Amino acid sequence: MSTIAVLGAGKIGESLLSGLLNAGHAPEKLVFTERYQQRVDELTERYGVHGVDVPTAVERADVLVVSVKPQDIEPLLDEIAPLVTPEKLVVTLCAGLPTGLFERRFAAGTPVVRVMPNTPMLVGEAMSAISGGTHATDAQLDTVERLLGSVGRVVRVPESQQDAVTALSGSGPAYFFYLVEAMVDAGILLGLPRSVAAELVVQSAVGSAAMLREGEGHPVIMREGVTSPAGTTISGIRELEKHGVRAAMIDAIEAAHSRSVELGAKHRRTDE
Ligand SMILES: NC(=O)c1ccc[n+]([C@@H]2O[C@H](COP(=O)([O-])OP(=O)(O)OC[C@H]3O[C@@H](n4cnc5c(N)ncnc54)[C@H](OP(=O)(O)O)[C@@H]3O)[C@@H](O)[C@H]2O)c1
Repeated sequence: MSTIAVLGAGKIGESLLSGLLNAGHAPEKLVFTERYQQRVDELTERYGVHGVDVPTAVERADVLVVSVKPQDIEPLLDEIAPLVTPEKLVVTLCAGLPTGLFERRFAAGTPVVRVMPNTPMLVGEAMSAISGGTHATDAQLDTVERLLGSVGRVVRVPESQQDAVTALSGSGPAYFFYLVEAMVDAGILLGLPRSVAAELVVQSAVGSAAMLREGEGHPVIMREGVTSPAGTTISGIRELEKHGVRAAMIDAIEAAHSRSVELGAKHRRTDE
């Protein structure tokens, strides 16, 4: 079993620690780093995992999971770059940062795998897309897939598709939350108490998601199944079509993609 260091145990880092422990990873094979002692104590008490300083984490671990905010990456890279050898596997969860940024800072040949997770990692239901950098092998991608598999599902994509992933599953939960918010508002307009409206909508979302997963995803057929002739659902669907909701969704995701490309541009070299 590899020793894994989580560098930056905030929301995503903590979820990963928790998921790995739930999946049976031994606590003595996990370490984390955090900036403030209070947070270290809190996590140690909660999970029985040791908080260590950054050099100790790099020395002890085979797999280094970088999960600080992208704006905090430079000081962390300054600290770890002289210590990271090509025997380590570096896994970055930092949105928008290319593998090349890490490869340029580490010893030649150091394997780097980039991951775009999403917030449902907090409940063990993340969707993560992983991309290997120049030196990452298939076996190392398998390792990362197992690691992220403890907190949700994993797909492999070429790094050039990470902006599309960011727009679709990275930002995706926000679009579902937005839809739920709008449906709850509709329930209130129709006179339902907020708590009842929320319960109805959230359980409908959970149930629909379970059907999509179990049915291996045929949304059109499932929607047709609840759309009876001259019934209530088709009246609602007509309004969605009239307001261009489908086109709005496509435009929204395309805009998120453009923004991801724009934000990433400052980290990419022209040859990447
Ligand atoms: N949350 C999401 O939806 C999401 C989705 C996809 C990808 N990601 C990526 O996941 C990463 C983590 O996001 P997050 O939401 O978990 O952020 P977060 O809650 O701010 O966690 C980052 C943690 O790292 C700590 N930290 C910063 N610099 C450090 C250093 N040099 N050494 C040790 N610890 C350090 C921070 O401490 P302080 O609080 O003291 O600064 C914080 O606890 C980000 O790169 C983000 O792009 C997040």
